[in-house]
Amino acid sequence: MLMKIFVTRKIPQVGIDMLKQAGHEVKISPLDRPLSREELMLEAAGCDALLSQLVDKIDGVVLDTIGPQLKIVANYAVGYDNINIKDAAARHVLVTNTPDILTGSVADHAFGLMLAAGRRIVESDRFSRAGKYTGWQPFLLLGQDVFGKTLGIVGTGRIGAALAERAAKGFGMKILYHDQKPNDQIEKDLGAKFCTLEELLKNSDFVSVHVPLLDSTRHMFGAAQFELMKKTAIFVNTSRGPVVNEAALRDALKKGDIFAAGIDVWEHEPELTPGLAELENIVITPHTASATIEARDNMSRVAAENIIAALKGNTPPNIVKANS
Ligand code: DGY
Repeated sequence: MLMKIFVTRKIPQVGIDMLKQAGHEVKISPLDRPLSREELMLEAAGCDALLSQLVDKIDGVVLDTIGPQLKIVANYAVGYDNINIKDAAARHVLVTNTPDILTGSVADHAFGLMLAAGRRIVESDRFSRAGKYTGWQPFLLLGQDVFGKTLGIVGTGRIGAALAERAAKGFGMKILYHDQKPNDQIEKDLGAKFCTLEELLKNSDFVSVHVPLLDSTRHMFGAAQFELMKKTAIFVNTSRGPVVNEAALRDALKKGDIFAAGIDVWEHEPELTPGLAELENIVITPHTASATIEARDNMSRVAAENIIAALKGNTPPNIVKANS
């Protein structure tokens, strides 16, 4: 049976082709920007499946406006804090994400931020382009070594564990981790050590965050946490911006509570907290940790697989449930 799918923004063609080949009618927003709530409700009304972006806020009102025929919201992201899962469940709407296929890309990016912030690579690039280099100097742009240091990973799901593997196997790093429960796999494979958040912050040279955004993780990192960290530490966040109090991060970087930071996600995307962009000791990327050609193609394919399964009445491979 022909079903209607609304895609809130253009995505790689592979998934669109799959949806069309499955015999569905696919409407893609013609606007190459996020839709407003009103635009989304208007455009998606009457669809059987919604392929959403992580910037689309989907709650009960949006779902009711789309209509009772809606069967699935397939998020084009691994994170799904933009969707009210309980509202969806109450309306028997399935929610799916795109896990696994972007794990390596995000872990690579997190490691890239560790290297870039620790070794002052972006700052050095700015310095060089500005014509400030006058010749080799013993104290020019000194950073922190990465090889053999201690990495503290907060949240050891797929991406946190993939970062641990890169760090331990590629850079001989010792791994400390904090999570809701011990992760036997990384302990066995990489010698990672479970510890409290406080122990991790006090003892790590690098701290990388990989938790979902929940009420319990909002502002998990603020002034108190940055003060616990070593003055030489580097803080990296590729999870969700609001996990970090960005004003507190700015102040910690300014005061020298920590050495540097690398962030891919911002507290108020697409706005940066005032004063952050002026600091030399932070590397900032615009939520591009999964932005590789391979990962984005695969996200498109996986989102389409989820929709095709749901519209056939089957269980999609990547259903998500409400987190606590
Ligand atoms: C995700 O998939 O949740 C990432 O944040 C996208 O880059």
